Amino acid sequence: MNPGHPVWWPPPAGLVLLPGDVHVWRAFLDTPGVPAAGLWESLSGCERERAERLRSPEHRSRFVAMHGMLRAILGAYLHLPPGELRFTYSAFGKPEVENSLGLRFSASRSQNIGLFAITLGRAIGVDVEQVRPIEDAERIAAAFFHPVEYEGLMRTPEPVRLEMFFSLWTKKEAYIKALGTGLSLPLESFSVVGPPSEQWSLCELAPDAGYAGAVAFEGRRAGSLNLYESSHIAMQEDRLAPLS
Ligand SMILES: CC(C)(COP(=O)(O)OP(=O)(O)OC[C@H]1O[C@@H](n2cnc3c(N)ncnc32)[C@H](O)[C@@H]1OP(=O)(O)O)[C@@H](O)C(=O)NCCC(=O)NCCS
Repeated sequence: MNPGHPVWWPPPAGLVLLPGDVHVWRAFLDTPGVPAAGLWESLSGCERERAERLRSPEHRSRFVAMHGMLRAILGAYLHLPPGELRFTYSAFGKPEVENSLGLRFSASRSQNIGLFAITLGRAIGVDVEQVRPIEDAERIAAAFFHPVEYEGLMRTPEPVRLEMFFSLWTKKEAYIKALGTGLSLPLESFSVVGPPSEQWSLCELAPDAGYAGAVAFEGRRAGSLNLYESSHIAMQEDRLAPLS
């Protein structure tokens, strides 16, 4: 565990998602914790085709881990075998699970880390990015950040400016993903220095050393924000409690 980083817990045996709760799951995609064959078997024909189009074996196996883990997690809440889940997609590509009982989700991946955010009956978006040097970070910020965000970034001392850049970036992405409208909402038109509006909550996440993350959800935070380690999901699947 890294000092200053929150703990990602194994899910409790009686996992319950109440209205107002937000659950965020973390997966290490290179070692997802369930057999790769099981993950592959659970994917739809469309997901397998997408995986097969990826040339790099590393990208392919991370894609399979990401989609297989998403299915395992959603299946555990919905008490359905992962392979039986069906997804629909909005005009902007935002996925939703059919017969969801009000369950909403968002997924994001960067390198070895995948995040999955789950709620009941409220829009949610999650984003993770590896913190990495970006040559034209200042130009990107000038073009795509709100003036308040840009000024705050420029006031941030150099050693931590890159972390601040990715903190803002992931918050903006999480909000855009929760809205589900893609980039039809100009990124520079809203600020994530605080919640973008009274109807929204934004929480910074610490996915792992060297990664930034954020989750955005509709409504003020009412319930708990629980952080779970997904490597425990497969073995606990049969012990999870029904949705309340
Ligand atoms: C489509 C978009 C969600 C891509 O996000 P990304 O950071 O590249 O990738 P992530 O891993 O975080 O998210 C991808 C997942 O989001 C989901 N998704 C796809 N379209 C979505 C949409 N319109 N709304 C919400 N979620 C969406 C899917 O689950 C997708 O996974 P899949 O491709 O494996 O099926 C979108 O936000 C985008 O294109 N952003 C542009 C990036 C950018 O310019 N950012 C600058 C920030 S300052």
